[in-house]
Amino acid sequence: MTAMKLIVLRKASRADRSKPRRRRIAVAAVAAVLLAAPNAVLAMDFPEALKRVDHALRTNPSHVSQFALDSCFNRRNFAVKLYESRQVERAERSLEFCFDALEIPAVAPKAKAEAGLDIGKAKAKAVQEAEQALALTPNIKDGLAIYRECASCHKPEGWGLENGSVPQLAGQHSNVIIKQLMDIRAGSRGNPMMEPYSCAEAIGGAQSVADVAGYIDTLEISTANGKGPGINLELGERLYQENCARCHGARGEGDPLKYAPRIQSQHYKYLVNQFRWIRDGKRHNADPEMVAQIKDMKTTDGKAMLDYVSRLEPPEELQAPEGWKNPDFAESKSN
Ligand code: HEC
Ligand code: HEC
Repeated sequence: MTAMKLIVLRKASRADRSKPRRRRIAVAAVAAVLLAAPNAVLAMDFPEALKRVDHALRTNPSHVSQFALDSCFNRRNFAVKLYESRQVERAERSLEFCFDALEIPAVAPKAKAEAGLDIGKAKAKAVQEAEQALALTPNIKDGLAIYRECASCHKPEGWGLENGSVPQLAGQHSNVIIKQLMDIRAGSRGNPMMEPYSCAEAIGGAQSVADVAGYIDTLEISTANGKGPGINLELGERLYQENCARCHGARGEGDPLKYAPRIQSQHYKYLVNQFRWIRDGKRHNADPEMVAQIKDMKTTDGKAMLDYVSRLEPPEELQAPEGWKNPDFAESKSN
């Protein structure tokens, strides 16, 4: 709950005690409207909050890690874009993350609402865990035990679903898996379906996250993924090479240094959905530079590119042989 909501509630209950009934109803109605309406997320205005974040980015007063600084920097840029497009509440929410990541006080001391603090803490914890997981050596056997849960949706081979509702994970760079998992855990990716499976109760802490990412890394890529309609592939190729290759690679192989996902052989419909979500600001963890690059891009151009991408194949040594089945799931090993 935000500070604003708390103040409204407190006012309403004080009014309850001292005012006649009709006035009480009016106060309750106002409170209800205020609760439903978008509220200020930060206890200061956006420009003021931005100034504080930028100062902390330069001076790093709490000595947080480079990973936390980078995460905050991305989020900060995204927040500025949202603010410029007048989506103030979302901009504030995006910027709020930085206060936790940089471990600086977000508000004038007394006004911080408790619930907000918890969410912020969960996010900061996810950042920390991601960073730890990135540094750990995975235990593949433990990773398999965890992956059994994931396989109900992502499939034993990690190939997801052709209809694009579940992505292919096989072959994805480990650090991308870790980042996405922890972003989902932090609530930064719009789609809630994965959220319960990304939480610490479902997977465990940093070591378990490293383990499951390590296991996924052993899966080979299916090139029988869902493809687009196959029209406009030449246009798609040109647009892709001009706009996307510098981060996602000439053949869609991704770039672990930039946390840019491998997108070759990914299901076309999944790519289209993600592309739209990223472009329209629904995926809060998106790379701000990528958002800027695609924000004015037409859906038809996007589709042509992604159709082309869905047909790009990984090098042969990463491809699963035809008809491959994950031997770890061969007979019913679960009990
Ligand atoms: C109930 C079904 C379900 C289960 C179980 C599930 N996932 Fe997912 N997963 C999804 C869906 C749906 C998405 C796509 C989310 C989106 O569109 O943002 C996804 C996305 C992901 C992504 C992001 C992929 C990318 O390309 O960005 C990762 C990583 C991931 N899942 C890992 C896991 C792991 C690890 C587990 C097991 C601990 C797991 N998932 C369990 C449904 C599931
Ligand atoms: C500046 C580097 C950069 C550029 C340029 C860029 N991307 Fe991305 N892209 C990324 C990063 C980083 C991510 C992962 C974002 C995140 O953390 O959620 C991403 C994510 C994606 C995803 C989601 C993949 C998944 O597995 O969920 C798709 C699809 C995508 N990009 C397509 C494109 C296309 C098409 C273009 C060209 C029009 C493009 N990108 C240009 C860096 C970039």
